[in-house]
Amino acid sequence: AAIGKGNYRHFMEKELHEHPAVIGDTLRQYVDPATRAVARPALPFDPATLPRLWLSGCGSAFLVCNTARYWFETLARLPVDCDVASELRYRDPPLTEGGAAMFVSQSGETADNLAAMKLLRSGGQSLVSVVNVPESTMARESDTTLMTVAGPEISVASTKAFTAQLSVMACLAINFARARGAIDAAEEARLTAALLEVPEHAARLLDSSTEIEALAADIKDARDVLYLARGSLFPIAMEGALKLKELSYIHAEGYAAGEMKHGPIALIDSSVPVIALCPSGPLFEKTASNLQEAAARGGRIIAFTDEDGAPALRRFASRVMVLPKVDPFVAPILHAIPVQMLAYHVAVLKGTDVDQPRNLAKAVTVE
Ligand code: AGP
Repeated sequence: AAIGKGNYRHFMEKELHEHPAVIGDTLRQYVDPATRAVARPALPFDPATLPRLWLSGCGSAFLVCNTARYWFETLARLPVDCDVASELRYRDPPLTEGGAAMFVSQSGETADNLAAMKLLRSGGQSLVSVVNVPESTMARESDTTLMTVAGPEISVASTKAFTAQLSVMACLAINFARARGAIDAAEEARLTAALLEVPEHAARLLDSSTEIEALAADIKDARDVLYLARGSLFPIAMEGALKLKELSYIHAEGYAAGEMKHGPIALIDSSVPVIALCPSGPLFEKTASNLQEAAARGGRIIAFTDEDGAPALRRFASRVMVLPKVDPFVAPILHAIPVQMLAYHVAVLKGTDVDQPRNLAKAVTVE
């Protein structure tokens, strides 16, 4: 049967509202709610002894890989290489014997990712795909498939598949960390508990669309928008910029906040909104000081933070949106939602074709 929009204006709006359910359904595949442990996924390698892991994807899926790299490295102490599939397929990198690769894709049909898969297969790596379509080519060509449970995604701009992919990768990072002796059972239970709370927080965020609409009105006439963050939120800043570009055709860049001084700060004046993902936590002070520098040059700071980060940011930011305070581990999943909502509302205000942005295809099956 054809999938409808229900009472929503666009598929993207409907799919944004599916974030809580999709994150919950995906987590339930991996986490045992009684023991708060991640069930050992069937994998073609042993995470305890894996020497190195490759992560590959395109567009938003690549940004999921980037976020996962922070998780695998910091939590599981696993060396990770991460690349866009279109580069990886031609790089011919030296591969570690006994290594593995994970390919993230909503469609499971993306040409570059399939080619990267072939290259890594010929280099003797074991292959895992993380896909949303069980009968896809990538699912068939990998040793193991881990499913995201997002359901069909119609909007060209990826939303719920993105948070479902992040949810799978977060569970794997916890599982690998446990297998590698990097965390104990108590820490595993604490982290999975933080994950299991995400759907509820996501639902609350979706209720705050009036606040996001006000932010959207603020940036809709900008020519350029900068998104800044540090650590595991840096890829989410890039996701925010990617979504804004594809939906509203406004030029946007996601930058590591600490890189500002090395170039992009030259762009900043009062016409450039600077969107910051800056929750309280170990990197808060560092990011806040970068933002203050941008504000001192006339930049209009729009900050996403939590109740602990808000007071310091309110001193110089023109708008501060307070998100639920969560464990830093799950902050990337939660922050993805308001940046996607923001891009959606800017597109609606601009009157662009939200579900079918110009020049874009849902699955890029040719090189
Ligand atoms: C996301 O909003 C984009 N439309 C795009 O970057 C997408 O994530 C990319 O083309 C990858 O597609 P896949 O997940 O089907 O491989």
